[in-house]
Amino acid sequence: MSVVSKSKELALNGGPKAVPELKPHRTKIAGEELWELVDMWEFSDDRKERLRELILGDPDIEGPHLFRYYNPKQSRVELAEAEMRKMVGTQHCLATNSCTSALVASYRAVGVGAGSEVIVPAYTFFATAATVVASNGIPVIVDIDETLCMDPEAIEKAITPRTKAIAPVHMRGSAARMDEIMDVANRHGIPVIEDVAQAGGGSYKGRRLGSIGTMGCFSFDYYKVIVSGEGGFITTDDEWLYTRAQSWHDCAACWRPNRFERERKEGELFCGENYRMSELEGAVAYAQLKRADEILAGHRRANRLIREGIEEFPGVSFRAQADQEGDTGICLVLYLPNTEATQQALEAMQAEGVPVGGIYDKKVRDWHIYRFWEHILEHKTVSDDGLPWSAVPENELPPYATDMCPRTLDLLSRALLVDVECTLTDDECAAIAEGINKVLRAVLNR
Ligand SMILES: Cc1ncc(COP(=O)(O)O)c(C=O)c1O
Repeated sequence: MSVVSKSKELALNGGPKAVPELKPHRTKIAGEELWELVDMWEFSDDRKERLRELILGDPDIEGPHLFRYYNPKQSRVELAEAEMRKMVGTQHCLATNSCTSALVASYRAVGVGAGSEVIVPAYTFFATAATVVASNGIPVIVDIDETLCMDPEAIEKAITPRTKAIAPVHMRGSAARMDEIMDVANRHGIPVIEDVAQAGGGSYKGRRLGSIGTMGCFSFDYYKVIVSGEGGFITTDDEWLYTRAQSWHDCAACWRPNRFERERKEGELFCGENYRMSELEGAVAYAQLKRADEILAGHRRANRLIREGIEEFPGVSFRAQADQEGDTGICLVLYLPNTEATQQALEAMQAEGVPVGGIYDKKVRDWHIYRFWEHILEHKTVSDDGLPWSAVPENELPPYATDMCPRTLDLLSRALLVDVECTLTDDECAAIAEGINKVLRAVLNR
């Protein structure tokens, strides 16, 4: 008989327990944390005081479980994913903490790694291309067309045996020419990762953006169409890619039905990162998604009113639309006949109070234009191994140069971008259109 089994003192053998029943513990998150959140909203002082009393007056208040997995209550991140599946129309959706991380997880899911190439447009926020490099791949940068999105004709010429993905970006709220892009991609059997960061809720020929390519990547950062402060989503109909994206997005494997089990199929488990969305962002994303139709309708209405109020001017055109109906309406882009007129009109419109900006000025650095991506053009690396560039013989690397996409630079240097808020009134829309007309009349001598 062992000493342990002989000892009558041990609870194991019927003795008294050393630790009494522990009282239920207050959750880590309680009233103070909720108050901090409420305090961020602009309530009146009187209302704030009442809310403060209500929230901090209960010392036993139970706060939420802020981790999306193992949540004893309904996870808001899961609800947001369900809303996204409903809106976008894909079978699967994975929330991430940004679109940048959604892009990395998607590139990794389709197998981008050392020696892979990914085709990206010359005009996009840098993240579309930077995440290729962060995935150890090499971005192949191609021209855009009048839609401000990737030119389908430029893709075909850029495909090589190393091409692992094509990443069209739906820039400034509206779609790239997806029929033509999908046609090239399907003919070559290359997956398409749609970057929908700037066009959440937009569609193309009746299909929501993010459901046309192999995978869609969304941004919910504060400056996007539908927002949660920070956050992103991946949408796809491909269950295996969804599984691999989950694997990259949470190397702790909390997403797995049986977390510590060996991989169920080769390629399911690898060393990923942590891109999980928190329940706080999930809650905001869920609430915003329920308002998505209202937000989109507001942008589209204001956009139409301004567009209809702008007169015709020779040499001035609206940005081409792959599908006008599906445009989110977050902005209006006008092309002017030349750079000089564009600069003059920009200055004069801003003086009129029109919410307008230029897109490209050689002297102004901007991460949206390939010309300023010296991290890529100059083959910068984070470590001595020289990756991703060292994975390919030097003479086979894409020939980068600041002037390699002249069409993109020409289009952008003649473009003016008018921001369209979803809350603009009819009068404000009319005033913006008149501000634009007044300036174009003067600049174009009409
Ligand atoms: C086209 C595009 N892709 C990706 C991103 C990255 O999104 P996030 O800020 O959510 O990482 C952005 C953000 O501006 C973007 O505009």
